[in-house]
Amino acid sequence: MNYNHLYKHKIIAKSYSMVKLLKLIKKIAQTNATVLIQGETGTGKELIARYIYENSQLKDQPFIIENCGALPNNLVESEWFGHKKGSFTGAINEKKGIFEIANGGTIFLDEIGEIPLFIQPKLLRILQEGEFRPIGSNQYKKIRVRIIASTNKKLEEEVLKGNFRKDLFYRLNVFQITIPPLRERKEDILPLADYFLSTYSKELNTIKPKLEKNVESMLLEFDWPGNVRELKNEMEKAIILADGKPVITENEISERIKNYKNINPKKALSLPSIHLKNISLKTAIEQLEKKMLKEVLEKTKGNKSKAAKILGITRQGLLNKIARYGLEFIFIYTFSSQVIT
Ligand SMILES: Nc1ncnc2c1ncn2[C@@H]1O[C@H](COP(=O)(O)OP(=O)(O)OP(=O)(O)O)[C@@H](O)[C@H]1O
Ligand SMILES: [Mg+2]
Repeated sequence: MNYNHLYKHKIIAKSYSMVKLLKLIKKIAQTNATVLIQGETGTGKELIARYIYENSQLKDQPFIIENCGALPNNLVESEWFGHKKGSFTGAINEKKGIFEIANGGTIFLDEIGEIPLFIQPKLLRILQEGEFRPIGSNQYKKIRVRIIASTNKKLEEEVLKGNFRKDLFYRLNVFQITIPPLRERKEDILPLADYFLSTYSKELNTIKPKLEKNVESMLLEFDWPGNVRELKNEMEKAIILADGKPVITENEISERIKNYKNINPKKALSLPSIHLKNISLKTAIEQLEKKMLKEVLEKTKGNKSKAAKILGITRQGLLNKIARYGLEFIFIYTFSSQVIT
């Protein structure tokens, strides 16, 4: 176990859905309540779990990440609750479980959908009564831990299939956060790509390359089944292949991304443009206004005074329009955390 790893994390979010979700998450973080994070693979569940921990009142207490999918069934109980010396063959010494180690802090149960049925009532007991019993002991121990759980399975469906206890599901589901897949928040794609290009170019000590316009379109059109992780890997690969060149062209992009539009023409994104047919002048003006506001806010990185100046309106006028159109701009959250892995 390593108690002193310092991780630095950034959450990049530009889409309205993610920015809204992050605001909600920040509020939930401070409550110390149980949180269930759902989302496809690579959407950022672990990152969000760390963010919750970092923004909670328990941020100076231990944080333990437990990958529930990686543990063999016969070891789960001892890993979670510990055992007494001699309680089974091989139990040479007394061992503390992760819940006892994390007492007073937070446990992140990653891939909770993978835990075997027999351990589920024991976890429920921790959630309900705040107590557990080490293997070989006849006494319950009291603990206080905050539990954050994540799953890329739909737990409701696992309950229906009989793989997950209903009572445990309800107890975990106090706050449910569902991170949308990247294809449903395309506005995050280019800011994320840009961020990954920045971090990798620093890491590799090369100049930060720009994305060619048609590469940007390809990234926007692709459906990213591996979500943010897939985009991150793609940018790492592209920067290595670019080998110090200032521009990333389609030569550095994977075939499946390049060919996506041709194979799936219907799924390809139609970039927002203003169609003047069949709409009133009022609607057309509003669309243009919204588009201009967005562009200028992006350019000024959300600086409202600067944006208002460029647009030739007052700051208050701009604030009114932002509220009216529900416009948000790039949010970058930085935090660091001490993690026990
Ligand atoms: N909004 C974001 N901003 C910056 N980086 C992100 C964001 N979302 C995800 N990432 C990065 O993408 C990678 C995948 O994220 P993470 O491991 O949290 O996903 P996950 O949902 O836990 O995936 P899995 O289900 O496969 O375990 C990580 O390197 C993470 O830092
Ligand atoms: Mg994960």
